[in-house]
Order: sequence, then C-alpha cells, then structure tokens
Amino acid sequence: MRTYLVTGGAGFIGSNFILYMLEKYKQEIKIINLDSLTYAGNLENLKSVEGLSNYQFVKADICDKEAINQIFETNAIDRVIHFAAESHVDRSIRNPEVFVNTNVLGTLNLINVAKQAWETKEGYLPDKKYVQVSTDEVYGALEGDEGYFYETTPIDPHSPYSASKASADLLVKAYMDTYHFPANITRCSNNYGPYQFPEKLIPLMINNALNGKNLPVYGTGKNVRDWLYVMDHAKAIDLVAEKGKSGQVYNVGGHNEKRNIEIVTMIIDTLLETLSKSDEHRSNISHDLITYVEDRKGHDFRYAIAPDKIKAELGWEPETPFSEGIKLTIAWYLKNREWMERVTKGDYQKYYEEMYQNK
Ligand code: NAD
Ligand code: TYD
Repeated sequence: MRTYLVTGGAGFIGSNFILYMLEKYKQEIKIINLDSLTYAGNLENLKSVEGLSNYQFVKADICDKEAINQIFETNAIDRVIHFAAESHVDRSIRNPEVFVNTNVLGTLNLINVAKQAWETKEGYLPDKKYVQVSTDEVYGALEGDEGYFYETTPIDPHSPYSASKASADLLVKAYMDTYHFPANITRCSNNYGPYQFPEKLIPLMINNALNGKNLPVYGTGKNVRDWLYVMDHAKAIDLVAEKGKSGQVYNVGGHNEKRNIEIVTMIIDTLLETLSKSDEHRSNISHDLITYVEDRKGHDFRYAIAPDKIKAELGWEPETPFSEGIKLTIAWYLKNREWMERVTKGDYQKYYEEMYQNK
C-alpha cells in the first residue's frame, strides 16, 4: 500500500485530487491530508471520504517542522503531493507576506523534511516522489494572442503570488539539481470545477449572478486564461507522480483559451439555459449585470500552456472541452447552493466589501 502525504487537501484542487485518488485506487493507497484550514480550506469537501480507514486528516501548518517530521516518523510516506499554498493573486497584491511564508518557507520546510526522511547512504529509498504543484503564472505573461509557455520558457513572475510560487519552484529545482531529490514540478493553467472558492473568477461570477449582484470584469475583459477542468488536472498529477522522470518539469494545460468576458457571458447563458423558469434566482440573471471595473494592478494579459511534453512522455491530454466542463461546473454549484451559502458567510463578506469597494 502506497502512502501519500497530500498538503492543502482541503482546498479546491487538493480535495478534488483526494476524491479522485480514493475513487481510483480504493484501498490500494492511504492518504494523509495535511492542511492548516485557512479561509480556503474546507473539510466539507471531503465528507464522503471522512470515515475511510485509508484516509486521515491532520490539521497542521506546512511551516511547522515538528508536525511534518512527526508524520514522516510515524508513516512510511511514498509520495508527497504539495498543493498547500496561498493561491489568490488579488490577495497577494494586498498582503504579500503570508504568500512568502506559506509558499516559499513552507515548501522549503517540506522538501527538507522529505529529503531527510528519504535519504540513505546510497542515495534515496526506492520509489519515492515529491510533486510540487506549481502554476503557469511563474512564466509571466504572453503579451499578444500568439505563442505558448513551454517548460523552457524563462521564469518571469509579475505578481507577489507568482513570485512566491516561482521561488518555491526554484528551491525544488535546487534540491533536484544539488541533491538529486526525487521530485517533479508541474505547472498548470487556471483550474475550474466543483469546490472552488468564490474569490476566483468562475465561482465568483456564478455566485454573483445567482444573487443578482454585479459581475465585476477587470479592465477590458480581454485578458486570456487557459482553463483546465480540475479532474483532468488530478489525472495529470497522478500520472506525473507515477511515471514522471525525476528532475523534470511538466506543463499541464487545457487547450481552452478564453477571454474573461467570454467566460462571464458563457456563465450567464448557461445559467439561463439550465435554471428552470420557476427558479427564484432566474429573474436575477441578465447580461446587464456585467460591470467593467478598475483593472487589477500588473494584470497579466494572457496565459497559454503547451502541454506537448506531458503528452509525448506520459500520454496525458486534457479530456474535458470547456463547453462541457462549464456545464458540469455550473450544475455542481446549482446542486450545492448550500455549500456556496456556507463558504460565503462571515469572512467572505468582509473580503468582498474590501476588495470590490472601489470597483
Ligand atoms: P486553494 O486556495 O483552494 O487551497 C489551498 C489549501 O492550502 C487550503 O486548503 C488551505 O487551507 C491550505 N493552506 C494554505 N496555507 C497553508 C499552510 N501554511 N499550511 C497548510 N495548509 C495551508 O488553492 P487551489 O486553487 O486548490 O490550489 C492548489 C495549488 O495549485 C496551489 O499550490 C496553487 O498555487 C496551485 N495552482 C492553482 C491553480 C488554480 O487555478 N486554482 C492554477 C495553477 C496552480
Ligand atoms: P483568477 O480566477 O483570480 O485567476 P488568476 O488571476 O490566477 O488567473 O482570475 C482569472 C481572470 O479573471 C484574471 O484575468 C482576472 C479576472 N477577474 C475578473 O475580471 N474579475 C474578478 O472578479 C476576478 C476574481 C478575476
């Protein structure tokens, strides 16, 4: 039985990954989910696996050396899948420090402990792997409508978030290059799907539209993101953890480039198509809710990933076209309106008021 330490498993991608892995491998694997439960961590996402004997939750901070050490001392960890991070660009612009603490120092702590636990006189224990879940944002931005990010594209982050992720990547690279630490780095594009916190574009727009609130589009709405359905991403990480050649970086992209305004328009159209005429929220929804607001500072124009290497070496391709993924996602949010109500209570209101007060 392989044992996984998944960090940040109560967040959006981490919880989808855990659900995917436990469904796929059943009792063949054990997962320890380590998460400090920041505003973005929600154990409700993992309710369906809570009672399983091969799933365990540990509330701890990735910066806490003793807590991580203890997990390695009491379990034979075979894989570390490192999702835990501060993940929102707008928050990083307002408060960069926590991004450096968690994303940089937390990652350093984790690779230090894993390296020590896995090291032997001859090298490393067999069949161990650390996966650093990173982002295409470390490459900076593409200025026009042409071109893609490759693994060889120079690192050139712009936001405090992407700078902290790039720093973490470089530390992992240093451990791979200096100590031959058995690791991979994956750099994926924007994920979407169930359980995403409504500070990010897609769930924020769905939630606002259902409540008849303005849909705040930054700047011109022409910025481009390359959308990846979260379950396609989970499959890629599993594949990289099993078959990725140690020391390699893999880009994971959706081949789903869309301008932000196209996304917002599709959300409105899909909601109107999906909601029954009698739904109390339907009358709230209209294209008139679209509101162009002040642009994000340093707003990266376009992200687009070339996932050629992961396709050629590992046979991974994105399976979910955006037109299908957005329907699945909206259907999930409509079915789980109570989830949304619960996560948007309390601190979320304060965040929203502060973030969008002048917009
Ligand atoms: P998220 O914000 O939804 O979840 C992050 C999780 O990490 C939360 O459960 C939170 O409680 C936990 N966490 C934060 N700080 C912690 C700490 N100090 N110790 C322990 N746990 C901590 O993020 P996400 O969208 O699921 O992203 C997961 C990873 O994927 C991140 O590393 C992010 O940089 C990367 N990524 C995300 C996207 C995307 O579109 N969401 C795209 C590219 C890369
Ligand atoms: P986001 O989901 O924050 O992801 P990232 O900044 O990591 O790509 O934003 C996606 C795009 O949507 C980005 O170009 C900023 C834009 N955006 C808006 O126009 N309005 C919003 O309210 C938010 C949250 C994002």
